[in-house]
Amino acid sequence: MTGVVLKDIRKAYGQVKILHGIDLEIRQGEFVVFVGPSGCGKSTLLRMIAGLEDITSGEMMIDGQRVNEVPPSKRGIAMVFQSYALYPHMTVYDNMAFGMRIAHESKEVIDQRVRKAADMLQLGPYLDRLPKALSGGQRQRVAIGRAICRNPKVFLFDEPLSNLDAALRVATRIEIAKLNESMPDTTMIYVTHDQVEAMTLADRIVVLSAGRIEQVGPPLELYERPANLFVARFIGSPAMNIMPAKIVETGASTVISLKDGSRVSVPLAVDASENGKSASFGVRPEDLAISTGDDFLFEGTVEIVEALGEVTLLYVAGPVEEEPVVVKLPGIVDVKKGEKLRFAADRTKLHLFDAAGKSYYKK
Ligand SMILES: Nc1ncnc2c1ncn2[C@@H]1O[C@H](COP(=O)(O)OP(=O)(O)OP(=O)(O)O)[C@@H](O)[C@H]1O
Ligand SMILES: [Mg+2]
Repeated sequence: MTGVVLKDIRKAYGQVKILHGIDLEIRQGEFVVFVGPSGCGKSTLLRMIAGLEDITSGEMMIDGQRVNEVPPSKRGIAMVFQSYALYPHMTVYDNMAFGMRIAHESKEVIDQRVRKAADMLQLGPYLDRLPKALSGGQRQRVAIGRAICRNPKVFLFDEPLSNLDAALRVATRIEIAKLNESMPDTTMIYVTHDQVEAMTLADRIVVLSAGRIEQVGPPLELYERPANLFVARFIGSPAMNIMPAKIVETGASTVISLKDGSRVSVPLAVDASENGKSASFGVRPEDLAISTGDDFLFEGTVEIVEALGEVTLLYVAGPVEEEPVVVKLPGIVDVKKGEKLRFAADRTKLHLFDAAGKSYYKK
């Protein structure tokens, strides 16, 4: 088995348990993104793969070899951090060449690799500059270039773009996507808080929460079929609307009642034994629309209108008193605060979770 394999990986600092048994197989060449709330253990896991943290228990394999005891320099990995940590007194060229010089590579090899990396990242014109004469995005590209020069089997990124402004983030994200395409055999593991980075870069996303994996899958699978409430809320922005519900009828479709007494038919079958149980009903903001007819999901008063140009967000006091329902409509919509409107949902995109928060969707 090539790639990276984690078997029941655990991490504790003293008595404090941080990771509670991570099982994951990453194929060679795959681009895997770790997401999860702050403090859930993403960086710790990445640093364990890099060899910068030891493994409390479990087994880690890279390219079929157990690496638990292998030092970072022998693992065939390269890591790019949030802070790019370039040597300020060295040119871009020397920054990228540094590691290879330490490893006593020949001048020709060094030159060839630096120029190739510079080419891939469009750093050619800056090779003689010092880092201080570069923009943040260019500096981060140098840090990535330096990692490429090490010819890693596995590339690790820990929020590499989070220090960049919005426009640079987009540009550098696209560089990373191109880089990934041009290195099809290199495995990439990438930590981010950014939904767009996760959705666009990943072959598979790993959602972590409090040291455990909640779900692993291709981005759209997580979006369309979140396995539980945690993933449902975490993937997608604004987050999925979740409403307390009760199952009142089972069969080919399931009928639920919401807090305001309204009934919704969800086109998915649940076991008859679930009848009468409490559940959570979910609908994404973008799957709701203003309804002019009699077929609607709920009626409510618009409390806040956020016109963003490309979309309009409505916060509607609806079937749940405590929390407004968020509705995301395309483009500019002529709706005023205080208006009472009906909203319909795309019936094929409704979500239903059991009392424990597990999705009723069967695989
Ligand atoms: N050296 C350490 N000693 C003790 N606890 C630590 C140490 N390093 C990290 N932790 C704890 O481990 C947990 C996971 O930290 P980690 O940095 O992996 O989170 P993260 O998911 O990367 O968060 P963020 O998104 O904020 O970067 C945190 O609760 C953190 O306080
Ligand atoms: Mg982190």
